[in-house]
Amino acid sequence: DKGEYRHFMLKEIYEQPRVIKATMEGRVTNTRVLEQALGTDAENLLENVRHVQIIACGTSYHAGMVARYWIEELAGVPCSVEVASEFRYRKHVIQQDTLFLCISQSGETADTLAALRQAKKAGFRAALAICNVPGSSLVRESDLVIMTQAGPEIGVASTKAFTTQLTALLIFTLALARQNGLPEEQEAEIVKAIHLVPGQVSDVLALDGEIAEMSKAFMDKHHSLFLGRGSQFPVALEGALKLKEISYIHAEAYPAGELKHGPLALVDSEMPVVTVAPNNDLVEKLKSNLEEVRARGGELFVFADKMANVKPDEGIHVMQLPSVHPITAPIVYTVPLQLLSYHVAVLKGTDVDQPRNLAKSVTVE
Ligand code: F6R
Repeated sequence: DKGEYRHFMLKEIYEQPRVIKATMEGRVTNTRVLEQALGTDAENLLENVRHVQIIACGTSYHAGMVARYWIEELAGVPCSVEVASEFRYRKHVIQQDTLFLCISQSGETADTLAALRQAKKAGFRAALAICNVPGSSLVRESDLVIMTQAGPEIGVASTKAFTTQLTALLIFTLALARQNGLPEEQEAEIVKAIHLVPGQVSDVLALDGEIAEMSKAFMDKHHSLFLGRGSQFPVALEGALKLKEISYIHAEAYPAGELKHGPLALVDSEMPVVTVAPNNDLVEKLKSNLEEVRARGGELFVFADKMANVKPDEGIHVMQLPSVHPITAPIVYTVPLQLLSYHVAVLKGTDVDQPRNLAKSVTVE
């Protein structure tokens, strides 16, 4: 039931503060992650993990890409991320003491399951699943499971599944990081930041009207670029995927530093450039990327922390977002991009909940 909402996708976007909170529930105190909440033998299985191999598809793959930044930064454990359809069809080497981590909303994605089954034959330390559907094949075949509490996701374009996957992945990262010597104060600082996320997401939802206004600029465009740096690069990828899926506008995401290495050639007044720029140590670099776009007549749409001091100007539209901790920023910054895609699709009159050619669960190759 869509209730008061025009589409399931919009309803699911608005459910995010609640389902992110539900995904934290029972797994974190005010200052700590409760490792036991990840499973009775979690401590054992996470001990001596030397490598994390993440496997997923689509939006879930983007969640895995964000997690890689967290796992390497906080736990200091090397992490690889690969799309399941690639992993399963190449000769791969499973390093010793690898934790094999599959991320899937449905738990029935054929390629992800095939990758897990193959890796099992090769041997690894443990299989962890981050999944939204209880009793799914992925849940049944894994040693450890962290259920996202997104509830059923009806819209084909994944929204609340993604932000709850990120929440679960950050909680997992902290559990792994503790095993690897993350100081208590740092854990407490990040756990406190996680508690702020539902409220920050609500603050972003309050910008819906402004984002709807912004979306008008995309209606008659055929192409768009999305830029981000660091853990916001996967957020840019996810923003671009949402836009192409539901509005059928060609959208490409690049790490902002790659701009000069090719995509800058595409930039002109017909190419809107969307940038996610929270206030972290990369923001100054990002600002110079923005100037490069501006100098070529590209119109910029910047989602930035109000502290980042990105100034609106001719051709630079700035949407100020709440100040967020750099670690939790990818969760919060995903939301305005979901809303942007949603409104562009509504303006274009596409079938938002059932985009052409796509299925919710890809159970065949
Ligand atoms: C995009 C989308 C897909 C899925 C992908 C994986 O909005 O929904 O890209 O993320 O098909 O599905 P799961 O997570 O069920 O394995």
